[in-house]
Amino acid sequence: MSAATSISLPRVLVIHGPNLNLLGSREPNVYGRKTLDEINTALATLGQRLGVAVDAVQSNHEGAIVDRIQKAMGAYDGVIINAAAYTHTSVAIRDALAMLSMPVVEVHLSNIHKREPFRHTSLTAAVVTGQIVGLGPVGYQLALRAIAEMIPLGVAVA
Ligand code: DQA
Repeated sequence: MSAATSISLPRVLVIHGPNLNLLGSREPNVYGRKTLDEINTALATLGQRLGVAVDAVQSNHEGAIVDRIQKAMGAYDGVIINAAAYTHTSVAIRDALAMLSMPVVEVHLSNIHKREPFRHTSLTAAVVTGQIVGLGPVGYQLALRAIAEMIPLGVAVA
């Protein structure tokens, strides 16, 4: 291996949808006390241990989330998404996710299946690799571990 050789780590994009920027203070009885920053920091730390580079973004806007998913093509090796309320309403986010040919894990902090009926339907579930619900922030960590298992190891590039 020459001095110029570097290792390109697999890259995982974490997308947080609307209102998740207020985690920690938002309905803590439902979503817990951890802030989004704390969740993202824990993911970055786990990523270092697993040898995966983790980027995290949050948006309250449907079109911005669609843009991020489109840009993930060719740039990332896996996606973790909590589309929050858009999970139940957004055909546009579902269609964007359906175009990805990489592992995609849908995460929900709460168990959407034991909440109000309108939360029982996920428009995205049928186009993702898998879904983790109801485990709180640990769900994101499990999603990252699952993706790290599914993607190839880092590739040496000159
Ligand atoms: C959520 C569940 C959604 O129904 C809700 O709209 C959210 C958060 C969760 O993580 O439990 O904003 O995705």
